[in-house]
Amino acid sequence: MKQIMARTAVAALFTGFSFIGAASADDAGKGEYMAYCATCHGEAGLGDGPMAEFMSLRVPDLTTITQANDGVFPFLQVVHAIDGRSGVMAHGREMPVWGNRFMTEAGDAMAGDYSHVYEVRGRILSLAYYIESLQK
Ligand code: HEC
Repeated sequence: MKQIMARTAVAALFTGFSFIGAASADDAGKGEYMAYCATCHGEAGLGDGPMAEFMSLRVPDLTTITQANDGVFPFLQVVHAIDGRSGVMAHGREMPVWGNRFMTEAGDAMAGDYSHVYEVRGRILSLAYYIESLQK
């Protein structure tokens, strides 16, 4: 009896975890997007957020990136565009350098502790996956 109860508890735990895991994996990028990106790129990614009119550069439509790249979503390019630290968009850039911002938010870390690096990369990756999901 004890064993059955323990097994049920373990099963419930796993079910619970996988449920939470699936929900947060799908929602992580969306939550970040709505909090940090929608002001310029718009809630649906069309480049029509409330801040867009104050930019001197046109805020790009993020739903047509695949269309503009012969049907292939340029995942790595998008990761670099969001991160901004590699300088791929260095000229006349108006988009914030999210790699630096997220790094600042993650705070200082002890030497040899890469948890903040993983956190920043995870946030940028989640955003790239979310933008991929918006493609027309
Ligand atoms: C202050 C306005 C603003 C905010 C906020 C903003 N962006 Fe941008 N974004 C731009 C502008 C303007 C461009 C055009 C290139 C440039 O200015 O660097 C751009 C370009 C991009 C590109 C390249 C698109 C392409 O077609 O090559 C991606 C991807 C992108 N943004 C994603 C994001 C993500 C993800 C966020 C939130 C973490 C975000 N942006 C927040 C203004 C913004």
